[in-house]
Amino acid sequence: MSKATLTLGNQTLEMPVVVGTENEVGISIGVLRGSSGAITLDPGYGNTGSCTSAITFIDGERGVLRYRGYAIEDLAAHASFVEVMHLLVYGALPTAAQLERFQHSLAHHTLLHEDMKKFYEGFPPKAQPMSVLSAMVASLSTYYETDDDLNIIRLLAKLKTIAALSYKKSIGQPFVYPRNDLDFVADFLHMMFAVPTEAYHVNEVVRKALDMLLILHADHEQNCSTSTVRMVGSSGADLFSTISTGISALSGPLHGGANTAVIKMLELIRADGSDYAKYIAKAKDRNDPFRLMGFGHRVYKQFDPRARLIKKAADQVLDQLGITDPLLAIAKNLERVALEDEYFVKRKLYPNLDFYSGIVYRAMGLPTSMFTVLFALGRLPGWIAHFKEMRDNRDRLHRPRQIYTGPMLRPIPPIEYR
Ligand code: CMC
Repeated sequence: MSKATLTLGNQTLEMPVVVGTENEVGISIGVLRGSSGAITLDPGYGNTGSCTSAITFIDGERGVLRYRGYAIEDLAAHASFVEVMHLLVYGALPTAAQLERFQHSLAHHTLLHEDMKKFYEGFPPKAQPMSVLSAMVASLSTYYETDDDLNIIRLLAKLKTIAALSYKKSIGQPFVYPRNDLDFVADFLHMMFAVPTEAYHVNEVVRKALDMLLILHADHEQNCSTSTVRMVGSSGADLFSTISTGISALSGPLHGGANTAVIKMLELIRADGSDYAKYIAKAKDRNDPFRLMGFGHRVYKQFDPRARLIKKAADQVLDQLGITDPLLAIAKNLERVALEDEYFVKRKLYPNLDFYSGIVYRAMGLPTSMFTVLFALGRLPGWIAHFKEMRDNRDRLHRPRQIYTGPMLRPIPPIEYR
């Protein structure tokens, strides 16, 4: 199968077929408009491939997720988040020497310019941490104007400092500076939770669990925020400005914001006497805007492999930390009831990675307001990998077309009628 044929009126068009390494098939429609004047129409891009990419493979029918050919289950079990960052951004797992150099670079670019601390003073105390994160990342471009490769390291190193400082600001505690002797995740936890009045020791269970969770969030091919990054980056915008738009896209409740929405939903159900049936009925009711948050996915139609790993981690972390969270029981019951319900079965709606991640974060003592920021911290290497791939491949400016449905040409009415 090397060509596809399309008949449009009296015209027959032949279009090349592009086949990926995992036999994914795409019809390359480059000749369509030039030859026929027509375009494809695909709102929400459910059937549109926007690029070829060698970074992440997903088979939604079989619940498969791989970064650069490695199964997510293997990476979660055997790699660190720093190794996965290297894998995504530079294309290979690091050798021991490369890892040492990479870690050294990451540790030596964590500081923010002291002036940037003043930016935090300007935000209101209840500022949304994702809005602060996006604004702070965009403002990095005012400090590092030259578009060079070091900016990738700077951003990978500084995002956790920016994130932790925004949390400290939100609770009115003094900022904690990064420590170069701590590993990536331990340093983040230290900046989040250390206070000047007592010694802070990073809990190894928490550090390991967070490291694994960040790996699970690290990339997901052409999702909404990554597509935003590729769209904005295609204009030639700099790395910081581009990634800040990815953060904005991620903040929405249908995307990364779902992890916060899940906890709010579970709390609501708990406060309402854990009446699962009522909320399942609401989710099924077309006239009710309520959706089962953390359920459903555009790509996964059997199960989300990340959700399976997170559910297991939720049990382990709560057990190891000796915590019982009533929300975990509610989540498991909700999942059980939903998966037996014809509405969810028919539409192939399963728990996604956001369904259980919030419960693990809560157990680790991470505040709900920071859940989506943690998603951004994990997704950063993925966004950067796509930005870099797009630049390296010299992708064209992204500029979709439309089918216009507004008024046809009409004269401007006389001034008195306007
Ligand atoms: N609860 C109830 N019904 C749902 C849900 C849900 N969570 N998700 C989808 N549906 C129904 C929807 O109403 C529609 O029904 P019908 O065919 O009768 O009109 C059908 O399932 C298909 O839904 P869709 O909205 O057309 O599917 P989509 O691919 O556009 O949306 C989604 C995918 C993730 C936005 C959606 O499933 C959803 O809103 N889920 C809740 C939010 C959520 O958990 N988001 C996190 C996604 S995973 C993390 C990430 O990568 O961002």
